[in-house]
Amino acid sequence: MDVQTQAGRPMVTGASRGVGLLTIDLGAIAANYRLLRRQAAPGACAAVVKANAYGLGLDAVAPTLWRAGARVFFVALPDEALVLRSLLPDAHIGVLGGLLPGSADTLADAAIWPVLNHLGEVAAWAGLARRIGRSPLPAFLHVDTGMNRLGLPPDERARLAADPSLLDGIDLRGIISHLACADDADSPMTAAQARTFRDALATLPIAPSSLANSSGLFRPAASGFDLARPGMALYGLNPTPERANPMRPVVTLTVPVLQVRHVDRPMTVGYGASYQVAQPAKIATIPVGYADGLLRSVSNCGVVWLAGRPAPIVGRVSMDLVTADVTGIPGDLAAPGQPVELLGPNQDADTLAKAAGTIGYEMLTGLGGRFRRQYLQTAPDDTSR
Ligand SMILES: Cc1ncc(COP(=O)(O)O)c(C=O)c1O
Repeated sequence: MDVQTQAGRPMVTGASRGVGLLTIDLGAIAANYRLLRRQAAPGACAAVVKANAYGLGLDAVAPTLWRAGARVFFVALPDEALVLRSLLPDAHIGVLGGLLPGSADTLADAAIWPVLNHLGEVAAWAGLARRIGRSPLPAFLHVDTGMNRLGLPPDERARLAADPSLLDGIDLRGIISHLACADDADSPMTAAQARTFRDALATLPIAPSSLANSSGLFRPAASGFDLARPGMALYGLNPTPERANPMRPVVTLTVPVLQVRHVDRPMTVGYGASYQVAQPAKIATIPVGYADGLLRSVSNCGVVWLAGRPAPIVGRVSMDLVTADVTGIPGDLAAPGQPVELLGPNQDADTLAKAAGTIGYEMLTGLGGRFRRQYLQTAPDDTSR
């Protein structure tokens, strides 16, 4: 990575020489972390940085969060934890995926804490602690309160409550659970899970409790625990879909127009001739496609923006290209080389994701490797972007 300065702002620019420009505002990520930490108070606030910090670049994002005050981080996989350990030697790192096959010794060596997801993992971690003479070894414990995905199910919780010695050899650094419906302000499931979690905690050894993800931080029913684990809201996605996004925008994606063509009926545009031209129109071809994470499901329904004006996507998104109707946009603003906004002030990742029939998480984590990446260090209180 090169470090550059532009308009007084230090920037780090990735090596890719793609035509699209993905701008990631590290100052906004830091500001979002601080907002979430205030929301979590008096509890503490971790940062979830799995999947390469939700696609935005772990090597730039993790040190930013550390400087903003985050000390506990969660990733999904052991390999992600090792990369994070090399970036943040003093961080507490939890691996949500738990003891994936063959990973236990490596995690112990790197002082990484697995999230133990079932009693088999509890026994394996305790056994390792004894074998390597490092008992007790730190770990989180995950109790399932309704996701039915990972975490101790009720029967395993009962076995553990009946025999707490199963945890001998484990230094319990926290007990976590995960919310299924926190993005839905009206869902009764959040309160139900919080109740189940409290009941489970009462039967387990005392340790810091961790329930809320980003949306959970904004749900009173999920408050009152010791450590929040937000991910998406750090990256500017909206944790409160029922109202305006309280987070600072983080991501901008612009791609220049490649070509503009004039078409008229009975012409069609793109693969499958799925778009029928109804009247004389101007079609801009833009070099971004599904290989870059622009989901094919926005074909004939999404929108891109040129100079603050919407241009409907017409025809199918192909691997490297998308076409948009720029008929109503003045020629000089829709000419080859003019920037087209896919993500930015006019359209955030949640909005584009919705048009694609998915969620902002998938949009961010799917952003491809062909964009030039530019990291901005805006001031913590900068609201200019
Ligand atoms: C166990 C766990 N905790 C926390 C998070 C962070 O959730 P969010 O990105 O919705 O804040 C995730 C994300 O999937 C998760 O799986």
